[in-house]
Amino acid sequence: MSGRHITVVGMPSLATDRPLRVVAVSGSLQSPSRTTALLVALLDALSQEREIEQHLIELADLGPLLAGAIRRDQLPPSAENELRAIEEADLLVVASPVYRASFTGLFKHLFDFVGQYALVDKPVLLAATGGSDRHALIVEHQIRPLFGFFQALTLPIGVYAKDSEFTDYQVSDPGLRDRIDKAVHRALPLLHFELTPSRPSPW
Ligand SMILES: Cc1cc2nc3c(=O)[nH]c(=O)nc-3n(C[C@H](O)[C@H](O)[C@H](O)COP(=O)(O)O)c2cc1C
Repeated sequence: MSGRHITVVGMPSLATDRPLRVVAVSGSLQSPSRTTALLVALLDALSQEREIEQHLIELADLGPLLAGAIRRDQLPPSAENELRAIEEADLLVVASPVYRASFTGLFKHLFDFVGQYALVDKPVLLAATGGSDRHALIVEHQIRPLFGFFQALTLPIGVYAKDSEFTDYQVSDPGLRDRIDKAVHRALPLLHFELTPSRPSPW
């Protein structure tokens, strides 16, 4: 499995006796990446509020394993494992840089392999990065409709960040930090899960 796997211990969840399984997907093709930094900041904010187990999937790592495949059964086992992690997550946090006014091609290629009904009612927190504010509506006009297709529960506030809000590939702008916190706080009341404590972790 190519993504990093980190367990973060945050505030214990009152409703559950196991951590929420949060899978983050970065559509960036580079590392370091502002998009990945934005995801990490969202995960950090979540971990302040809930006990989470997080798994980060970076297209910069996974992309070369996907690019030669046109059907899911052609993917190597490590890529198949990442798809299962996405499909079995309690919560998805997804982000892509804007490339040519859309998400990256590999971000879409990854989700083209995800089962059509595998994300039904799954909460998804949306985010994107871009060179300027001019493509900020990518979250509403492109990423939200993609997850609408999957009948996922897209969370109310998405986070868009421009390059000048990062320093050395870390979130540095206070306004961006506020938007991250606001997105997480608006998401929390919607994160109701019927968790199965005995289910073995897929990671
Ligand atoms: C091929 C390419 C196309 C891009 N197209 C856009 C664009 O259409 N609109 C925009 O605002 N930024 C565009 N950008 C800038 C990136 O979205 C921006 O720098 C982003 O923060 C990069 O994220 P990363 O550091 O995670 O790769 C483009 C960058 C590249 C490399």
